[in-house]
Amino acid sequence: MSKAAQSGAPAPEYLPRHLAIIMDGNGRWAQQRGLPRSAGHAAGAAVFKKIARYCSRIGIRYLTVYAFSTENWTRPPEEVGALITLFKEYLEESLRDFRDDDIKVRFIGDTTRFPKSLQELIAETWELCENRTGMVLNIAMNYGGRAEIVRAARALAEKAKAGLLSPGEIDEAAFAGELYTAGQPDPDLILRPSGEERLSNFLLWQSAYAEFMPLDVLWPDFTEKDLDEALAAFAHRSRRFGGV
Ligand code: FPP
Repeated sequence: MSKAAQSGAPAPEYLPRHLAIIMDGNGRWAQQRGLPRSAGHAAGAAVFKKIARYCSRIGIRYLTVYAFSTENWTRPPEEVGALITLFKEYLEESLRDFRDDDIKVRFIGDTTRFPKSLQELIAETWELCENRTGMVLNIAMNYGGRAEIVRAARALAEKAKAGLLSPGEIDEAAFAGELYTAGQPDPDLILRPSGEERLSNFLLWQSAYAEFMPLDVLWPDFTEKDLDEALAAFAHRSRRFGGV
């Protein structure tokens, strides 16, 4: 029996090659229980760890999760601090306990705004995962789709200014090559637990032909079964990419 059959997920050929998830609803989950928002994020982090491993096991090739947006800095300092602590704990755990893992962890977003201690863990993880060949896990941290597009435009302008590229050579491929996700396929499916139906500045360029699926479950309650169901629904969608 295949790994996918054991899991309840569709067979690998029906899976999105690149799955993206907006991990939303941590705050509401905590509020419903009379807990601080940080407790919702801690529960969300545990679900993230479980779901990332499950995605790798069933044969997803690329998984991108939205962990911290460029707008999340406006949250109360104690909430931002709690999230940073969770990121550090996750990376410390990965570096300590999962050194032989095959998941290739990457980071998308401007991570230079985070504390030095977190930046060091990011650099260490980046290096440790360099030669891994398994599922690519992009963790979006201080990520914003608009900021990413502006950054790509600036990189192309710099190249043109240096005479490395003429404006006429700037096409979609050249642009995509300057994004954090350069070299990766675009997401096929974007899930948003918590019922919200917005992209919230996530993968704006890359989502052009992605299937978007809001899900009526808060992220800390999200299970492998919820994912199996979403993947099964995706397998039945007809994708036309602008054709007929
Ligand atoms: C959105 O829910 C969630 C976030 C802003 C943070 C997501 C982060 C995690 C799930 C932790 C990830 C941890 C690692 C290790 C990558 P919200 O707080 O906006 O929820 P609400 O809309 O109900 O208030």
